[in-house]
Amino acid sequence: MTTAAPTSLVDDILRLKKDRDAVILAHNYQIGEIQDIADFVGDSLALSRQAAKTSAKVIVFCGVHFMAETAAILCPDKTVLLPDLEAGCSLASTVTAEQLRVWKRSFRNPVVVSYVNTSAAVKAESDICCTSSNAVQVVRSIPPDKDVLFVPDMYLGEFVRIKTGRTVHLWPGSCHVHFRIRGKDIEDMKQAHPGAEFVVHPECGCLSTALKLANKVTSTGGMMTYVRNSPSNEFIVATETGILHSLQKENPGKTFYPVVRTALCEFMKMITLEKVLWSLEDMKHRITVPPETSARAKQALDQMLSVPET
Ligand code: 13P
Ligand code: SF4
Repeated sequence: MTTAAPTSLVDDILRLKKDRDAVILAHNYQIGEIQDIADFVGDSLALSRQAAKTSAKVIVFCGVHFMAETAAILCPDKTVLLPDLEAGCSLASTVTAEQLRVWKRSFRNPVVVSYVNTSAAVKAESDICCTSSNAVQVVRSIPPDKDVLFVPDMYLGEFVRIKTGRTVHLWPGSCHVHFRIRGKDIEDMKQAHPGAEFVVHPECGCLSTALKLANKVTSTGGMMTYVRNSPSNEFIVATETGILHSLQKENPGKTFYPVVRTALCEFMKMITLEKVLWSLEDMKHRITVPPETSARAKQALDQMLSVPET
């Protein structure tokens, strides 16, 4: 349950947003107050698409650093602001561009698929990006005779490997929040709520149990769609708990049970209303990517955006 945000703070943000010709994009894991003031709330793919098509001059990105970088790459003529520079991602930190260059050298003409949870420098070393909502389609779009290297999330990579039946070489990275969601937690929740449907994010460290018990393995945006269209009234949700705000707001008659109540991404929670206001006041922290890195990373992102949505 989130308490209502102070109205003057919200009013100040909305006024300044208009003055600056800014749009506020927020990820589904943001605190409720941020989701409530955002122009658009979504998953990584939807936010990238939204950034790419906005006509606003300024994008205030309420998410983590790699997401703001993605927006800066896709919209080089816009000002992209991240309200807190410390908002990083433990998963993105598991691979550097140099490590990826070394790994690539052990394969002959591999195709590198990088999850968007990577730095711009890692994207620049990649052939195509993916998110949790299009990873399976992205790998299916690669010629079958190619070696696929998947960075950095090993659980999402394993999910893709199972779904596509392809040889996918996995980088041993994981997210510290999703890693902690284990099979036993899911089994206990399923026992406590036998009538509930179960939706799970593919980053979770419980893939075998998830594949056995889940009604849907999908991105945060995919969860929103699944719940919206399901006739069920109860759902067990295995991901970061920020998604519960959007789920509850959009489906007031339905009940949601987080598999792990403490599944909180402290990086996502660094963005507060005060920081959004300061960000608009001081026009910081501006996220930029060096032109050469940006051009190469953009190719991998454009390649992803050209894969049809299903
Ligand atoms: P989504 O693309 O599913 O929103 O996931 C982003 C993320 O960081 C998951 O931890
Ligand atoms: Fe990164 Fe995990 Fe936070 Fe998502 S939940 S932003 S993968 S640390």
